[in-house]
Parts: sequence; C-alpha cells; structure tokens
Amino acid sequence: MTAGVRELGMAGVTYRDAAVADAAALSVIGARTFVATFGHLYSAANLATFLQNHTPERWAEALAGDASVRLAEAGGAAVGYARIGPLTFDVDAERGGRPGLQLYQLYVDPEYHGTGVAAALLYWAAARARARGAADLWLSVFVHNPRARRFYARAGFEEVKPYTFWVGDHPDDDILCRLALDADRPAGNGDAPRRAAER
Ligand SMILES: CC(C)(COP(=O)(O)OP(=O)(O)OC[C@H]1O[C@@H](n2cnc3c(N)ncnc32)[C@H](O)[C@@H]1OP(=O)(O)O)[C@@H](O)C(=O)NCCC(=O)NCCS
Repeated sequence: MTAGVRELGMAGVTYRDAAVADAAALSVIGARTFVATFGHLYSAANLATFLQNHTPERWAEALAGDASVRLAEAGGAAVGYARIGPLTFDVDAERGGRPGLQLYQLYVDPEYHGTGVAAALLYWAAARARARGAADLWLSVFVHNPRARRFYARAGFEEVKPYTFWVGDHPDDDILCRLALDADRPAGNGDAPRRAAER
C-alpha cells in the first residue's frame, strides 16, 4: 500500500501524523468545522458542552493516548483532519479474532470539500486502522448529512443500525456504519487518486 500516492491530491495540501504539539491547532479546526457543519442545530448551552471535547487539553490527552490523527495542511494551517481510536459503540465488533476501530472524526474545511482531501484522509484512516490490527472501521453519521453519507457509501461503508449521538442533552439520529478492512482490496476510497486528479 502506498498511502503517499493517495495523498498527492490537491496542489498545496500536505499530510502528516499529528503529535501532542498539534493539540492547539486541532482544537481550533475541530471546533470550527463542527460548528460550521452542525452548529445551527443546537442551543448555545448544548454546543458549549459538546465543544469541551475540543479543548487543547482534551486533544493533548487524546494525542498522548491511543488516538491516531492525520492532519491535512495548506499554507502551514490545518484544513482537515481524521482521528481514529478504540471503539466506543455498543457493537459486537470482533471479527476473525480482530477488533474494530472507530473513525471519531473526519472533518475538512468547506473550501476543500470535493477536492480529494477527505478521500485522502479516509484512505489514511482505513490503512492505519488495518495496520493497528482492525478487522473493521466504524463510524456514526448524522442521518441528515447526505453529503457525508454519500461519501462514506462510495468508500464502501455499509449502514448497519441506528445510533443516538448526544450533543449536550440533545439526541441526534445517527447511523452506525462499518467498513470491512479486507486485505485483498484497497482500504476505503480506492478511487482517491482518480478523484484527486479530476478536481
Ligand atoms: C463529509 C466530508 C468529509 C466529505 O468530503 P467531501 O470532499 O465533501 O466529499 P466528496 O465531494 O468527495 O463526496 C461527496 C459526495 O456527496 C455528494 N453530495 C454532495 N452534496 C450532497 C447532498 N446534499 N445530497 C446527496 N449527496 C451529496 C457529492 O456529489 C459526492 O458524491 P459523488 O462523488 O457521487 O458525486 C466533508 O464534506 C466534510 O468535512 N463535511 C463536514 C464535516 C462532516 O460532515 N464530517 C463527517 C461527519 S460523520
């Protein structure tokens, strides 16, 4: 597998693994992209509660712990990221003696949507999850996020079952999705190079 080839994508965008020193940058882009995508759905109090997940301190803990995070950058600034880690969903995820891992977030700034940046990050997430020994990569997606659902379906995720995603005390209707990380096919967006070249 040549992840670097998959990440050539859009001119000027580079990719690297995040380290604890990136906690502040991830705090900013994590909060910014969540608010840009979903902020209008919640009360100020619920949003503030949820954004506690994106403080620099929480990011530093995650980066020092069992998270794997990939950063996409342009002009020295973060424009997207993907984070994987242990499964938090209540699913029977073990398959063939291998655990499942979770894609916690895949967020790209709006001006980079449709450019192949998200596909490159997803390709990395699937490859890294497989390298960490996972049989499957799981995620939850909001039912009223058709762009993300289409994106994940195109990458090979199957929608498995309903899931409630809490933002403060606000329940969102999500769907759990699973991508089988079989060794005999590309991980995730196998068409990432084509798309990156097109756009
Ligand atoms: C979700 C996300 C990562 C996808 O990356 P992207 O670069 O926008 O995805 P792409 O453009 O490669 O693919 C999106 C697909 O949805 C389609 N699409 C776009 N808007 C759509 C809509 N309103 N309804 C249905 N499909 C839509 C596009 O046509 C494309 O499908 P196609 O390749 O078959 O033409 C990115 O949009 C993002 O970061 N969004 C904000 C954060 C977010 O929602 N993250 C996921 C949380 S689970």
